[in-house]
Amino acid sequence: MGDKLVLTGGNKLRGTVEVSGSKNSILALMSAAALGKEDVCLSNIPSNSDVYTMAEILRSTGVQVRFGEGCVYINGKDIVDHKPPYELVRKIRASVYTAGLLLGRLGQAEVALPGGDEIGSRPVDLHMRGFQTLGAEVTVEHGFMICKASRLTGANYYINKCSVGTTINMLLASVLADGVTILENAAKEPEIVDTAILLNSMGAKIRGAGTDTIRIEGVRELHGCEHSPIPDRIEAGTFLIATAAAGGEVLVTNVLSEHLRIPIAKLREAGAEIIEGDTDILIRANRRMKAVDVDTAVFPGFATDLQAPFGVLLSQAEGAGIIRETIFDNRFRYVDELRRMGAEIKVERDTAIFRGVDRLSGAPVEATDIRAGVAMVIAGLVAEGITEVSGVYHIDRGYERFDEKLRNLGADIRRC
Ligand code: EPZ
Repeated sequence: MGDKLVLTGGNKLRGTVEVSGSKNSILALMSAAALGKEDVCLSNIPSNSDVYTMAEILRSTGVQVRFGEGCVYINGKDIVDHKPPYELVRKIRASVYTAGLLLGRLGQAEVALPGGDEIGSRPVDLHMRGFQTLGAEVTVEHGFMICKASRLTGANYYINKCSVGTTINMLLASVLADGVTILENAAKEPEIVDTAILLNSMGAKIRGAGTDTIRIEGVRELHGCEHSPIPDRIEAGTFLIATAAAGGEVLVTNVLSEHLRIPIAKLREAGAEIIEGDTDILIRANRRMKAVDVDTAVFPGFATDLQAPFGVLLSQAEGAGIIRETIFDNRFRYVDELRRMGAEIKVERDTAIFRGVDRLSGAPVEATDIRAGVAMVIAGLVAEGITEVSGVYHIDRGYERFDEKLRNLGADIRRC
């Protein structure tokens, strides 16, 4: 039996919460750091289980990974093995970054293909096509993506669908390639900019990260440096949405509001008062939120990772709101759990229509993925009575001390 989070709803949130380093950045940064042959120190790292899984995956290939106080040292000088074990790789989607890393460093990689998961089918065709463009031979055999290249050569690659993972994998594979790689229709997420900044500090020559077109001039070797990941914009957004839904006043610190433009605009439209500082955001929510419509989109649009938390807000807002999920094909699984708490939601293909109810009622519910999990916790914060959230390991994959941070804000939440 895994942990459960037990909440008694009704408390408003008040106080200050500090956001951790970005989960999705650190997974890319750890892979990027392993491209070098000197120590790279990543500080202010989030302590969540995905970070430790990534450390195990990297170690399995010979990368040195040492944890210090709030930091991790990574050194890829002894990297030898091009086939990380399936049992580790299957645990996290970001393990696909080892393909770019190992291909870039060793000229070969055998990485288990991720299957579909809780949020939809998760193909890697764009990653594979990208590696082929750089001159690698890529095949799929027995569930593994097998990549080989005597030498990778820079090339132009138009990424057919704007993909975060493909853009990162292409950065990893091309920084040590011969010549210049141009990525077009590259993803612009802040985690990509963060990865490019780290690689440039290690001696890479990357320009244009954060725009549609990224230019990577291959270099011979990368060296050591220090770097801190950006604040986790999804964790920050989760606390903002939780406060808007539960009511109260919270100062969210260690956050860059330019990473949350659209979610902030949507929360304001719903009736929350938001004051943006340089590295913090104050949110005040003194009345019931009004329903608004949201389409998820690639950055700087409304992040799909905040869709489920926002759905909970809409489920008890005033009026009817519509969410259209444009990134993943199965990201409304949490809706069934919310319905069990009394929510009125109709789903048709990529669209969910939320008719706000006065109050959700507490129930035993399940976290089906990281973001659906925190959505269930937010539902428990606002529901009448007791909510028990199971499947908490999903939340622990991506959030550091989520329940403790909420407790410090006055939530009635305990872990059993
Ligand atoms: C990253 O996933 C994040 N994961 C996800 O966060 C996030 O939801 C997603 O980007 C979108 O922002 C990590 O950073 C580890 P994509 P990724 O490639 O890279 C399709 C969370 O909860 N596609 O941008 O896998 C794909 O199916 C997680 O923290 C292909 O068709 O996402 C999707 O429809 C969940 N072929 C779209 O592109 C490919 O080869 C965008 O996916 C690759 C992707």
